[in-house]
Amino acid sequence: MDKTGKKKIIIDTDCGSDDAMAIAMALNDPNYEIVMISTVSGNVCMEQATTNTLTTIEYAGTYEPPVYKGLDKMLLKELVYAHETHGKDGMGDIGLVPKRLKAQEGNGVLKMLECLRNSEPGEIDIVALGPLTNLAVAIRLDYEAMKRAGRIVIMGTAGLGAGNVTPVAEFNIWQDAEAAKIVTESGLKEIIFVGWDACLGDSMLNPQEIAKIRESGELGKFAIDCNKDLMEMNRERFGDAYLDMADPSAMAAALYPECIERCEKYYCQVDVTNGPSYGSMLVDVNYFSGQEPNVYICSKLYPDKYKSYIYKTLRVE
Ligand code: RIB
Ligand code: CA
Repeated sequence: MDKTGKKKIIIDTDCGSDDAMAIAMALNDPNYEIVMISTVSGNVCMEQATTNTLTTIEYAGTYEPPVYKGLDKMLLKELVYAHETHGKDGMGDIGLVPKRLKAQEGNGVLKMLECLRNSEPGEIDIVALGPLTNLAVAIRLDYEAMKRAGRIVIMGTAGLGAGNVTPVAEFNIWQDAEAAKIVTESGLKEIIFVGWDACLGDSMLNPQEIAKIRESGELGKFAIDCNKDLMEMNRERFGDAYLDMADPSAMAAALYPECIERCEKYYCQVDVTNGPSYGSMLVDVNYFSGQEPNVYICSKLYPDKYKSYIYKTLRVE
């Protein structure tokens, strides 16, 4: 907590449309200050993720944290963008561009380490919404600085459920499994993976809730309209336009932990073998390994608390 009483966070993002909603939520939470945002390739290339982040900050209409470009390549794996889910530009291809803001000079990974070195231990939490490439390189470059981070809350893994990019893998982990392995095995004390299952079931936004957000004003309309491709995809999957908002669920878990229903520490391993389960997170729920639990898996939110947090931070009510 700094003298303003606000908790500080760093956001790392592959800003696609669900990242945009999550970042807008964080910008509207009066209890937190985003000290910087770093970008990474994932949903779209890093350059596009940077542009989308700047657009989001402008639409949020609050304060303007510095945005720094991070890595545009994964550690080993070739990038596979998620254009079918988020559109070619990552924001529903509805022509959203920043009017004024530009990224700052400097590399996002080095700036993250600089912020952490200049902070008190635990003063800054990290919220990661994309592949873990930036975090993995930061760990390799300056582990002592990364140890100064407080919680590291990550949208990633299938949680205790199924995958969304293969039967067992979730996109952020699968996009750079080698990076996710480095983070998972880093020994950093408070790593919380918010699984994709946390934003499913009753935590999905239904058509009525989507309409409520969209009709609430400019910010709500922006947050919904940029997710139009995901809505269309879900219309085919679920028979109606629902929104499984992965990054907003991770942001809610990070900034409003009261909404977490289930979060347990397990011994977890990322599969980097070259086979059908590449990019999955093996969660040892029955303690077969005999290994010390190393990371937390958040697999369920209280839907009502989660959604009320979305409404509050998107200025819906
Ligand atoms: O699997 C969902 C995650 O992958 C979200 O963070 C989405 O933005 C993509 O990065
Ligand atoms: Ca993301």
